Amino acid sequence: MKIGIIGAGNIGGNLTRRLTALGHDVSVANSRGPETLEELAEETGATPVPAAEAAKGAQVVVVTVPLKRVPDLPSGLLDGAAEGAAVIDTGNYYPQQRDGRIAAIEDEGLTESRWTEQHLGHPVIKAFNGTYAQDILERPRPAGDPERMALPVAGDDTAAKQVVRDLIDELGFDTVDAGGIDESWRQQPGTPVYGLRAGAEAVRKALTEASLERPADFRG
Ligand SMILES: NC(=O)c1ccc[n+]([C@@H]2O[C@H](COP(=O)([O-])OP(=O)(O)OC[C@H]3O[C@@H](n4cnc5c(N)ncnc54)[C@H](OP(=O)(O)O)[C@@H]3O)[C@@H](O)[C@H]2O)c1
Repeated sequence: MKIGIIGAGNIGGNLTRRLTALGHDVSVANSRGPETLEELAEETGATPVPAAEAAKGAQVVVVTVPLKRVPDLPSGLLDGAAEGAAVIDTGNYYPQQRDGRIAAIEDEGLTESRWTEQHLGHPVIKAFNGTYAQDILERPRPAGDPERMALPVAGDDTAAKQVVRDLIDELGFDTVDAGGIDESWRQQPGTPVYGLRAGAEAVRKALTEASLERPADFRG
């Protein structure tokens, strides 16, 4: 599959490593330009590109930059993506450590992914946001393995969500349907499922135990 990854840090780098190893055709971008991604390209075989070109022709696009940087992404970022492309949002809102206060999230009650989606102008599928970057490399397991972790996946576009769930299965993880983007607060930072390393049953239970109230550590 043709996959564009925007953000080549902890998560974007490791997704580039695993997705190329599975044989996907990966283009990867950061903010500083493709010439700064030569090492990752050499290691993985991914194609480094400017961010504005990363989604070109892609069936899956991963947006994995710090939340506060989402508004800086090139406008029309997803215009050249394949029709019906699944856009994965891995983002989290860390107002105190990194992102500063975002009123639309805190006062208007937008979920983090709805906020990101509005900036991108394209529906998103929320996945990997509660997954430690290292686990993407170290914890894949074959289907049926009792140690296999499950990841919650939320999104409104059911076809795109299925594409993402199938890709995550290929990466070595089960998935749990966590509902639509308006419900995706159930997997935001500070919730029981955030960072949970467990199978599908425990992930489902953790999603039901989430509270809509934003934890103090994650308020700006
Ligand atoms: N780290 C984790 O374990 C983890 C787990 C789950 C979810 N997340 C979430 O996933 C997101 C990414 O986290 P991360 O830890 O991978 O971040 P990171 O290591 O800080 O990497 C961020 C990447 O985004 C790129 N970037 C920033 N602004 C950009 C722009 N305007 N255009 C293109 N690329 C841009 C950076 O490029 P430059 O270096 O060139 O600026 C860098 O490659 C965050 O929202 C984070 O909360 C992280």
